[in-house]
Amino acid sequence: MDRHEIRLEWPTGRTRTLAVREDETVLEAAGRDGIGLPYGCRTGACGTCAGRLLEATGHESDDRTLDVDDAFAYRRCQRALKDRHRADGYVLLCVAEPRADCRLAVGPSVHTELVENPWK
Ligand code: FES
Repeated sequence: MDRHEIRLEWPTGRTRTLAVREDETVLEAAGRDGIGLPYGCRTGACGTCAGRLLEATGHESDDRTLDVDDAFAYRRCQRALKDRHRADGYVLLCVAEPRADCRLAVGPSVHTELVENPWK
């Protein structure tokens, strides 16, 4: 089973790198390594686990920059994301299984970027 190197980057500057199998989600792999990431439903419905793709790289023979749908396969539908979120590189880490090495922005501030504040 292929594994991909997933580098998690928090706004504080903290980073961790995980080896994630193609049959597990980023959230599952983080939990296995004792890394706490935000989550709620674990079914793609709430958006709490959102990350944002910063960079994805393919195999050595394919050095183009990959987009978020090249970089991940989805175990379930990403119901919490709108098309514009997906186009901007957001990904729900509870349902996303990697297909490329990636750098991801993570932490609760990523979810905050998705949710419009009705009081503004
Ligand atoms: S935890 Fe709810 S969408 Fe991922």
